[in-house]
Amino acid sequence: MIHSNISDRFIFSDGQTRLLGVFGDPIAHSLSPKIHNLSLSKLDLNYHYLPFHVRPHQLATAVHGFKALGGVGFNATVPHKVPLLSLMDSLDPAALKIGAVNTVAIAKNGQLNGYNTDAYGFITALKEKYSETLSQKNILVLGAGGACRAVLLALLDEGADNIILANSTVTKAEELASDFNHHYPQTKITPIALDFLAIDLTHIDILVNTTSLGLHGEDNFPLSIEQLPPHALVYDIVYSANTQTPLQKLANSQGLAFIDGLGMLIHQAARAFQIWTGEEMPVALVKKHIFSK
Ligand SMILES: NC(=O)c1ccc[n+]([C@@H]2O[C@H](COP(=O)([O-])OP(=O)(O)OC[C@H]3O[C@@H](n4cnc5c(N)ncnc54)[C@H](OP(=O)(O)O)[C@@H]3O)[C@@H](O)[C@H]2O)c1
Repeated sequence: MIHSNISDRFIFSDGQTRLLGVFGDPIAHSLSPKIHNLSLSKLDLNYHYLPFHVRPHQLATAVHGFKALGGVGFNATVPHKVPLLSLMDSLDPAALKIGAVNTVAIAKNGQLNGYNTDAYGFITALKEKYSETLSQKNILVLGAGGACRAVLLALLDEGADNIILANSTVTKAEELASDFNHHYPQTKITPIALDFLAIDLTHIDILVNTTSLGLHGEDNFPLSIEQLPPHALVYDIVYSANTQTPLQKLANSQGLAFIDGLGMLIHQAARAFQIWTGEEMPVALVKKHIFSK
């Protein structure tokens, strides 16, 4: 219990309570219900945010059922972000460029409006801790999955002009690089095969991990980062509310500046919250109560 009026809102709903949620498979691990319900309660907004375990083959049924129930909006996580694209009536520019939807707002006339707030979340968390310009920095991004597309968009929109994209399946990195090079011709995006033993880190200013390495409680990160220069920043978008990720342990042991994925998670949620409710999420409160390790 944080505050009496907060606990009241968790317990009581009424005929005007509005529905928000998150669709995923799996979904039990999601921190989004805590983030949103805490914020809604703090601002005394009459909504509830619930987790929904939606299997891939039932996504369209779930979206239309949620709409039929009068839901206001929902988030999407793995594996629904890309399939949602084709179910939307409109897409914001970020969702279009990223090719994935993580936030849906349902208008009063039933129109399904798709957004992607991951790039905003990534860059907002970066700027909280890193004040330097991204232009002329050598940035190494590991991975080429869905989250990587949001990270690339955020870096490019913020002025990054030299990105190396390393992925185990190199064809995915090549496709992603060619896609983004087309939209940002002034930027150099170099796709390479991710070989943990051979990669040269000596000139890297910013290392970003967007692979799922570390997501499953692994003890070790397969890349030795000893070659990174002392000024380098390490950013791991993988997060855990309870423990450090393997990459975080490595960065800490070398005394390197580090940003974890929790900030990105909170800020992408804050943007979605603003889209649905028109209000600013109490980000400091969320950080204090949910992520204080
Ligand atoms: N902080 C946040 O708010 C936030 C938001 C979104 C996602 N995330 C995190 O970002 C991570 C990636 O999500 P995603 O949606 O991009 O997943 P995804 O589309 O499934 O992509 C997974 C990526 O990880 C790589 N990978 C997986 N296992 C690997 C291994 N053993 N060695 C090397 N590379 C490996 C894959 O390489 P291949 O292509 O070669 O298979 C691919 O590039 C997840 O951990 C997710 O929790 C965080």
